[in-house]
Amino acid sequence: EGDKMMAGRFVGSTDPIMEMLSASIPVDQRLSEVDIQGSMAYAKALEKAGILSKTELEKILSGLEKISEEWSKGVFGVIQTDEDIHTANERRLKELIGDVAGKLHTGRSRNDQVVTDLKLFMKNSLSIISTHLLQLIKTLVERAAIEIDVILPGYTHLQKAQPIRWSQFLLGHAVALTRDSERLGEIKKRINVLPLGSGALAGNPVEIDRELLRSELDFASISLNSMDAVSERDFVVEFLSAATLLMIHLSKMAEDLIIYSTSEFGFLTLSDTYCSGSSLMPQKKNPDSLELIRSKAGRVFGRLAAILMVLKGLPSTYNKDLQEDKEAVFDVVDTLNAVLQVATGVISTLQINKENMEKALTPEILSSDLALYLVHKGMPFRQAHVASGKAVQLAETKGITINRLSLEELQNISPLFGSDVAQVFSVVSSVEQYTAAGGTAKSSVSAQIEQLRELLKRL
Ligand code: ARG
Repeated sequence: EGDKMMAGRFVGSTDPIMEMLSASIPVDQRLSEVDIQGSMAYAKALEKAGILSKTELEKILSGLEKISEEWSKGVFGVIQTDEDIHTANERRLKELIGDVAGKLHTGRSRNDQVVTDLKLFMKNSLSIISTHLLQLIKTLVERAAIEIDVILPGYTHLQKAQPIRWSQFLLGHAVALTRDSERLGEIKKRINVLPLGSGALAGNPVEIDRELLRSELDFASISLNSMDAVSERDFVVEFLSAATLLMIHLSKMAEDLIIYSTSEFGFLTLSDTYCSGSSLMPQKKNPDSLELIRSKAGRVFGRLAAILMVLKGLPSTYNKDLQEDKEAVFDVVDTLNAVLQVATGVISTLQINKENMEKALTPEILSSDLALYLVHKGMPFRQAHVASGKAVQLAETKGITINRLSLEELQNISPLFGSDVAQVFSVVSSVEQYTAAGGTAKSSVSAQIEQLRELLKRL
């Protein structure tokens, strides 16, 4: 046990269950690569600071290289006393190159090391997530372009409201996701501040060249204050918040699609690839993929809530509580990557059932168009709304649809009704009224598609 890292101060051994509780190696070995990158940069800076000779630096770098290979080949042997990835890599370095390994940690602390590692990891992860997110947005936009002539009921309060283009629905989800993409991009700016060189809390005592560290590790700038740098996890909270909002958007889309795929709605059929059957009921085809997306939104928010609770009330600088951050980040990175790819698959493979959409476009969905007809004849909208409401009521008491009322019956409600009222009862003319930017007319849906295609080039 004389070899234990803190052997100087501690007498006897730690409680084994305490050791298990404290060890983060099962989780943070995922940082093995970035931890080595960080150590290589730090070793170079130590050489520049005169702490390492050229030969010592070379020894350390080649030792680290070897460890990196061991990790990538999956042959790195984690041993019982490895508390975390940082101590594991250093332990292995000593085994490989001897006592000179002990110089690497000069002026460095696991406190500035771990947050540097996590930021390096997140820089890589964010670009992968962004790629998957852009793919999903693109899939929605291109599907909207192809199926622009399909019309279905739009809903408010889940009640039939007004006819809309299917593309308007798809683009509605796409637009929400572009904000998520922007948010993820904004987080990158703050992740891009290098904490290495902050030591445990007070800074670095060997005049380490932090500018060298920054350029070696490809950060945009260096942190301004050591005490803040070792303890701030704003970037973790920002990432988990952005991820939560993204998941809420995906969960809304999933819920819409689940409803539309029921046999009661029958607007769309999901590909078998993204569904599963029932062990009991042979007829079932369940939208598991969408249900999982919906539930993962809860999981991701749970991770955010957990980290916020951990951070609340912490005093300044590093406290072991912060060790919780990595599990949350890794879990959310994995969840987003899986969910985004599945969502893209679901969207690109589902089939729409136009006949059922058409059937659902029952004439009362055009009641607001009937009011608008009267507006065009000069009636104030509030009165027109009442008149159209009367027509809806009359049709209902007669047990017929609103388009079956005779001209005479309509004229009893308002003399402004003329024979041209028949034109109101067309869903195509209905959607074509919404030509203002953002609306569901073909021209403005096409404009949305163009704008989104442009935006996608910049995201
Ligand atoms: N495993 C620790 C973590 O994940 C590394 C930092 C430990 N630092 C310390 N002073 N105990 O946060």
